[in-house]
Amino acid sequence: MNKRYLLLLLVVLASAHLSAQEWVVPAENGAKLSPFAFNDSTRKAGAELYILNCKSCHGDPGKNNVINLVPPPPDPASVRMQNNSDGALQFKIVQGRAPMPSFKNILSSTDIWRVISYVRSFSDKYVQEIEKKSGRTGAAGLNARILLTWLKEKNQVQAVIMGMKDKITQPVAGTEVKLFAKRYFGNLLIDEARNTDAQGKALFNFPKDLPGDSAGYVQLIAKLSDETAFGETKADTTLAIGVPTYRPPLNEQRAMWNVVQKTPIWLLLSYTFTVLAVWGFIFYVLLQIRAIYKAGVKKDQETAD
Ligand code: HEC
Repeated sequence: MNKRYLLLLLVVLASAHLSAQEWVVPAENGAKLSPFAFNDSTRKAGAELYILNCKSCHGDPGKNNVINLVPPPPDPASVRMQNNSDGALQFKIVQGRAPMPSFKNILSSTDIWRVISYVRSFSDKYVQEIEKKSGRTGAAGLNARILLTWLKEKNQVQAVIMGMKDKITQPVAGTEVKLFAKRYFGNLLIDEARNTDAQGKALFNFPKDLPGDSAGYVQLIAKLSDETAFGETKADTTLAIGVPTYRPPLNEQRAMWNVVQKTPIWLLLSYTFTVLAVWGFIFYVLLQIRAIYKAGVKKDQETAD
């Protein structure tokens, strides 16, 4: 081979090697933000996804027990990993780069953001920015919390939504809240969906006749409808605001396996009669066999005499 070609090949190889070190993320991808806020539930879901899909190579975050690969996978808690913008992390997880696989067709885009929310929990410097949406005021809903109280005089349930913005807890205005009462099966919507006012407050008229448990307790669940902005934000509170109702436990009376109480009397009688008749017949047959045996013994004695 010509020397010049050899040189060219070397240059190409060297530059390929250099670019292999640098993982370039297009600016528009690097600027992408999560469409929803990271919170405990996204981090928890992210942790599960991480264990299933990433841990085998990237190890336990912060422990630097990564698998021995070339190039080595960085620890998620490392500066190298955390120096990525959210969009860069998303881009790299979607694309992959050998030996790391592409997760484009393995994880949904929501799941990838959940994993990122988990990865971010290992940095104390990280402050999340989420995709801006118009129409909402006050806190962007980061780590939003719902507080439920019972306003007895008005027979209303009050929900107050507070969120963190610029590290200050602020009311979240103009977001939709729904209130439910928990039932055996599914949840019952109370009143209708309400939007929070400037104080982050929403009021729900509580029906006077809603059955509670035997002490009148009702389990209430409040949810923010805008899951893309707030993640799954819920409050779960039990208040003594229902009508005390005795609900027989499922294993009593009505239960499918509780057959005795449910049996009609004619069935019970005919069943008992049939069982007695069958056993009576068996006894009769046994008695007859005994009689035949006895008669036989008697006949033997007579012939012997
Ligand atoms: C088969 C092993 C393997 C699996 C599985 C894997 N990775 Fe990787 N990952 C790597 C390797 C190796 C690198 C370094 C690639 C490089 O620099 O070319 C890497 C790099 C990365 C980077 C880029 C870090 C940087 O340098 O900026 C991110 C982000 C990342 N992985 C996230 C994940 C996530 C999240 C998962 C799970 C959804 C995952 N990886 C699963 C091996 C893996």
